[in-house]
Amino acid sequence: MNKFLKISNKINPFNKEIEVDSDKSISIRCILLASQAIGKSRISNLLESEDVVNALKSIKKLGVNYKKKKNYCEIYGYGLNSFNNKKETKIYAGNSGTLARLILGLLVDNKNKVKLFGDKSLSMRDFSRVTEPLKRFGAILNSNEKKLPVEITGSEFLRPINYEEKIGSAQCKSSVMLAALKTPGITKIKAKKSRDHTENLFKNLNIPIKISKQLDYDYIEIEGKNNYKGFNYKVPGDISSCSFFLVLTILSKKSSLKIKNVNINSSRIGIINILNKMNANIKIKNKINYKGELIGDIFVKSTNNLKAIKCPKKMNSSAIDEFLIIFLLAAKAKGISTFKDLGELNKKESPRLDIGVNFLKKIGIKTIRNHNNLKIFGNPDLNLKGKFTMKGFRKDHRVFMMTCIAALTIGGDWKIFDIDSINTSFPNFIKKINKIGAKIN
Ligand code: S3P
Repeated sequence: MNKFLKISNKINPFNKEIEVDSDKSISIRCILLASQAIGKSRISNLLESEDVVNALKSIKKLGVNYKKKKNYCEIYGYGLNSFNNKKETKIYAGNSGTLARLILGLLVDNKNKVKLFGDKSLSMRDFSRVTEPLKRFGAILNSNEKKLPVEITGSEFLRPINYEEKIGSAQCKSSVMLAALKTPGITKIKAKKSRDHTENLFKNLNIPIKISKQLDYDYIEIEGKNNYKGFNYKVPGDISSCSFFLVLTILSKKSSLKIKNVNINSSRIGIINILNKMNANIKIKNKINYKGELIGDIFVKSTNNLKAIKCPKKMNSSAIDEFLIIFLLAAKAKGISTFKDLGELNKKESPRLDIGVNFLKKIGIKTIRNHNNLKIFGNPDLNLKGKFTMKGFRKDHRVFMMTCIAALTIGGDWKIFDIDSINTSFPNFIKKINKIGAKIN
């Protein structure tokens, strides 16, 4: 489907309260870990998006049953090494890099061959970043030119590895952590800082894990082959989905928004730190610690004196999925914003660095790009007139949502294609936008 959305008006001032859809990273991790637990797990508030549905379908194909109830999902695990698939099972990961890379980690001890494939966008992404370390455990992995489909046959004779994760990719780190769960002995990981939901869940499930946090790296040790029991978990709101509403509010006149129950794990809140550095007014209240994850209510107001940011490299990881929306804010800020070392953006669901730069050009913003470094020359008076079309972005959900926020705040008459892309991570995106006063359908 290539349905488009038309937006021709800016959003009117608003003063509202919403919740955003649940966290995608945590939802997928809960499903995968529940599939390995002994007994029933109950995950409530699970994100109802395509990536998550594909995670449920995948564990089902591997012999793990689940039941969806109104507000929760029950998953019935039989412990480690209990996947029970037929020979040559095919698993479809859809658009989800997280599902595809993490489930490969769980398959290192699986007897029968599994062929993993994905949609067009996922099939263009590099899988050697996980197949290489997983081979070192002793599993057999084959792929064509580092891309999907990947075939994996597990081994009964796994050995723990010492692995250095140098990119700052939570998917790579987590894939190896899940393989470590299946492997006798102690797997040692030196990982460049990235989101730590897998670590938090391991701790919560009493899986033997030691973590030593250093300045740029975390040192993780996991003792494998320890079964754990089914668990209950309530998934909080996704800060990445929330980020679109933060920027929508900041760029709208005389508006304010409360976004309740959002995950504010310090490895994810780069967006808040970056926006506040640009003079935004974002506050977090009612913080609680839920099973190792911080959750809070986020309050944001309009800002009319945004300033440019010199974004330090060390902030890239905690805002890795938010740069498109940050670029939009930089376009309206006073001064020249600078970003460094954003090569990883081009390895996401679409080449987001290239697409972001082209988008800024389309809306008349000057940029200078030097390899993976970017300067954005902000224009606080930016106010679009005329017709704009956005298409050809590999159905990347975040490109779609960023463009909607641009249309609702800087004007222009927009035709934005691939509306169904929101089903990847934030199916209620348009409903929520309308809830705060827009009229789009
Ligand atoms: C994710 C990690 C990040 C992020 C992705 C979700 C995860 O990817 O971009 O949307 O759930 O672990 P990388 O690990 O490739 O940086």
